[in-house]
Amino acid sequence: MKALVTGGAGFIGSHLTQLLLEKGHEVVVIDNLCSGRLDNFSEFRGHPRLQFAQADIRLLEEIRPYFKGIDWVFHLAALADIVPSIESPRDYFEVNVDGTFNVLECSKESGVKRFLYAASSSCYGIPDIYPTPETAPTKPQYPYALTKFLGEEIVMHWEKVYKLPSLSMRLFNVYGPRARTTGAYGAVFGVFLTQKLNNKPMTVVGDGTQTRDFTFVKDVVRAFLMGAESSLSGEIFNVGSGNHYSVNQIVEILEGDSTNIPKRPGEPDCTFADTTKIEKMIGFKATTSFDTGVRELLAKINDFRDAPLWDADSIKDATKTWFQYLS
Ligand SMILES: NC(=O)c1ccc[n+]([C@@H]2O[C@H](COP(=O)([O-])OP(=O)(O)OC[C@H]3O[C@@H](n4cnc5c(N)ncnc54)[C@H](O)[C@@H]3O)[C@@H](O)[C@H]2O)c1
Repeated sequence: MKALVTGGAGFIGSHLTQLLLEKGHEVVVIDNLCSGRLDNFSEFRGHPRLQFAQADIRLLEEIRPYFKGIDWVFHLAALADIVPSIESPRDYFEVNVDGTFNVLECSKESGVKRFLYAASSSCYGIPDIYPTPETAPTKPQYPYALTKFLGEEIVMHWEKVYKLPSLSMRLFNVYGPRARTTGAYGAVFGVFLTQKLNNKPMTVVGDGTQTRDFTFVKDVVRAFLMGAESSLSGEIFNVGSGNHYSVNQIVEILEGDSTNIPKRPGEPDCTFADTTKIEKMIGFKATTSFDTGVRELLAKINDFRDAPLWDADSIKDATKTWFQYLS
């Protein structure tokens, strides 16, 4: 197949690109490198079946030519941080909503066979049901969650009206090598690994008993591939690990000092995907144990050498708007 991966130079996109190449497919990556890096291609750079285009999904004319002859589109390009989405919601609408519209239009025009969307479990907000099924109410708590959910709604609408064969994959907390190491204060693993590297205490939010459905990136990209290979359309799937783990458990595995910082408003105490639907309909089940995944990530700890080093004070400053608007 000839696949196009938007956001393919990013964390999840680069693993998906690698898997598609390993399976013998041709891959065109579109990425404007705003948070992605060509270093993420180091294990497969120069592959004869890989084409990279530095292009912006906000510009329809710029991306249109790359859709010619494409069978599968995986749409992962997005702005993906919480605090910047509260501070600059327009940017998030332009990339995550209008950009998704552009990618869908190009896919429709060129008659692609499958369209897969990287949606976010943040659409559930603070859920009432655990494990959370796809039928749970959507309650986005901040503009990132809202724009990713609006993107999903547009995808499902294009599926219905224009018969574009599409699936939406609601990803839970994805972790693994190549996670973003620059930019805004964000995902817990990047923050902790950088602190560990610098012998600084890990900044545990609240009492650390909150849990997350940490899903290893290689499992996540396998779910995307299995979705593309299926003949299903118009379905929304949770992609989770089948379990959930506390922040304190991460501290234990990483073995280091920790300090507690204030709990944040708008964040659930637990994220935990009900994965019954994807198991039944696609046959996907995550297979990487948390321990194995964390060890694989730890083996790449040096990748976090240049990542920002956060402490309680800088986090307090970086999350000011979070407390201001979401409390
Ligand atoms: N990481 C997670 O835990 C998680 C959870 C749920 C959903 N997702 C979704 O998965 C996708 C990938 O996330 P990630 O964690 O790999 O983040 P990432 O930031 O590493 O990847 C996003 C990629 O999109 C590119 N991009 C951003 N704006 C663009 C634009 N205007 N034009 C072209 N490319 C652009 C970036 O350069 C980057 O390479 C996103 O859609 C995100 O919302 C991620």
